[in-house]
Amino acid sequence: MEEKYQQAAKVLAQSQGLLICAGAGMGVDSGLPDFRGDEGFWKAYPPLAKLGLSFSEMANPRWFEHDPELAWGFYGHRLMLYRETQPHAGFGRLLDFCKGLPHGCFVFTSNVDGQFQKAGFEPESVYECHGSIHHLQTLDGSGQIWLAKGEQIDLDPERFRARPPLPKAPGGSLARPNILMFGDWYWNSERADIQQLAMQNWFHELREAKAKIAVLEMGAGKSVPTVRLHAEKTARHFEATLIRVNPRQHQVREDIKHISIEKGALEAIEGIFKHFK
Ligand SMILES: NC(=O)c1ccc[n+]([C@@H]2O[C@H](COP(=O)([O-])OP(=O)(O)OC[C@H]3O[C@@H](n4cnc5c(N)ncnc54)[C@H](O)[C@@H]3O)[C@@H](O)[C@H]2O)c1
Repeated sequence: MEEKYQQAAKVLAQSQGLLICAGAGMGVDSGLPDFRGDEGFWKAYPPLAKLGLSFSEMANPRWFEHDPELAWGFYGHRLMLYRETQPHAGFGRLLDFCKGLPHGCFVFTSNVDGQFQKAGFEPESVYECHGSIHHLQTLDGSGQIWLAKGEQIDLDPERFRARPPLPKAPGGSLARPNILMFGDWYWNSERADIQQLAMQNWFHELREAKAKIAVLEMGAGKSVPTVRLHAEKTARHFEATLIRVNPRQHQVREDIKHISIEKGALEAIEGIFKHFK
């Protein structure tokens, strides 16, 4: 492993920009659950195991129509959890490194938890491809997206249901998180679209400057492989090395230049950066 840490440190030291790609595993060392398989999800949410609801069944906008108290039980619990959680030391170490890069870094994540921004990453350099739990929208996706700041969810922990009053839109109708759910036709993607454009502009800047970049992917699973695929595609496009950090799903296709690190995010970041002066 030491050799891999050294190789990864060398790749990073030679880079002028860094694309950070993060899945739910990035937050595990901060104490957050990932949703790896039904087992992982039900371990994090025992009341939903009792109801026999998988992550993809629960993360469905229809609950906001049919059972809003259950829907807000699930998302309200996550909102409070992510608000309370402090990003682990690996976030800060990465941020310090990024500040010294001529082209800085950009974060691509399917996490909705806002942990990168909380750790001090510039909001303008983050693309949350599945949205953010810290923002709200109307059920039909019309109108503005607004901050969930100030919303407190009163959760009945026994029944895993939110007690009214539930979050409301400015017009008085029920609100929902601005997150892309499964089978979701009404996600308002406006905020994420702007973030995506910022990432494309950063890519453009890198291409113009013929900059050498690295791609560091952490904690991205295979069940919803958006982050893994984006990391692979970008590494190929920029002929960059993909550093994949994952304690279980660390394998990378042989046709991609890569370093695969079978460790958790925090341990791997510490292992890599101890090779920096
Ligand atoms: N924090 C969040 O915002 C959050 C949490 C769970 C799920 N989700 C959503 O659910 C979907 C889940 O996809 P996913 O691939 O991100 O999560 P996932 O739960 O499917 O997979 C998590 C991955 O992290 C790895 N992992 C576990 N512990 C780790 C550690 N300490 N360090 C690094 N990696 C570790 C696992 O091996 C796995 O490959 C996404 O659509 C996402 O939007 C978001």
